[in-house]
Amino acid sequence: MLDDDLVYPLPRIAPMLPPARYVGLREEPPRLATLGTSGQRVWLVSRYDDVRTVLMSRHMSSDHTNPAYPRLLPVPPIPGIMSFLRMDDPDHGKLRRMISPEFSPRRIHELRPAISATVEGLLDKLESGPRPADLVSAMSLPMPSLVICQLLGVPFEDHDFFQRISGDIVSAVGGPERGAAAMEELAEYVDKLVRHKVQNPTDDLLGRLAREYVNSGRLSHDELVSMARLLIIAGHETVAGAFSLSVFALLEHPAQLAELREDPGLWRSAVDELLRFFTVIQGDGRVATEDVEVGGVRIAKGDAVMYGALSANHDERVFPGAGRLDIHRDARRHFAFGLGVHQCIGQALARVELEISLSALFQRFPALRLAVDPAEVPFRHDMLVYGAYRLPVDW
Ligand code: HEM
Repeated sequence: MLDDDLVYPLPRIAPMLPPARYVGLREEPPRLATLGTSGQRVWLVSRYDDVRTVLMSRHMSSDHTNPAYPRLLPVPPIPGIMSFLRMDDPDHGKLRRMISPEFSPRRIHELRPAISATVEGLLDKLESGPRPADLVSAMSLPMPSLVICQLLGVPFEDHDFFQRISGDIVSAVGGPERGAAAMEELAEYVDKLVRHKVQNPTDDLLGRLAREYVNSGRLSHDELVSMARLLIIAGHETVAGAFSLSVFALLEHPAQLAELREDPGLWRSAVDELLRFFTVIQGDGRVATEDVEVGGVRIAKGDAVMYGALSANHDERVFPGAGRLDIHRDARRHFAFGLGVHQCIGQALARVELEISLSALFQRFPALRLAVDPAEVPFRHDMLVYGAYRLPVDW
């Protein structure tokens, strides 16, 4: 079925609501849409059950070297940057299994004290700095960047450089040229870092991978560099966006924020509800490698597909009153982290980062408030990962 005015990604107009168009789309099986970047025709999958079918199908490929793979950026893929996120099994599984122990709930639990210390350090700086302050540059961007530094084993003296570079990549403040230059600088830095770790393996993610896999010839230098770059990119902008949006939403829902202050045990479910509510990655692409039936529609071998995680996460059949933020909701079935073989490997880390940083922020600043009218907050409507460009706050 053709629907020529349906262009993906669908614009989010109201900061706290998904595109209204999804309401109608969820009444229907997958529909053909046009990718805004390239004009390519893709199947847009909007209902929760249909999204699940796509994500769990063995016949849906993530291989971005396939010319049919839907490109969300108007530029050709940068080699290595997407690493195993954009590969199929068995190559994908081989690389993923090497790092999955690093993201186990136990390992992530062990990181809690270090994450708390990082967050408290940033809050100290924020508290002693000028007011009002921009929470995006003070917390949202540096927090996940510093956590990734610790995880990968970036030497302390390089933290400032690392943060500046990864900030430039994700913030788009300096325009596409600055972003591309920063990407190159980061690539060079990671290359050197990996070389150093291979020679002097330290007790951190890169050091362990170097010792166990590179030095035994099971992983090449370039593969480890690609993996490091994937982790740096995947875990930065996403957590930064989710953090900014969560602060905004909670300030707009003072009664729920008061409950969280009263009972910090509620943060865990609140974080999942906030992740569901905003779904910072609206969806992602696949290509059918066989004919697959989705919601009664036959998606033919070779067809491109976009799965609509944001739409699925607002499907009333699964999340009644989905447009309402409700920290008491059991939201864990959401697809903000995807599902299936490519489901986000960093999800436990992301949850812990958000839980620790949000609870610490609101505890440190009981009177935290927006320093501008909510309508003046600039949201990242134009970016692949949703978030805020700035969040001016006072306390
Ligand atoms: C709020 C934070 C985050 C969100 C919303 C998010 C979302 C996602 C989504 C939707 C996917 C699947 C994409 C697909 O289906 O094609 C994914 C994959 C991935 N994420 Fe995350 N992510 C977050 C944080 C992180 C963090 C903190 C890390 C690591 C430091 C990370 C590392 C990865 C990796 C390596 C993959 C690829 C997994 C695979 O292909 O097997 N993410 N993420």
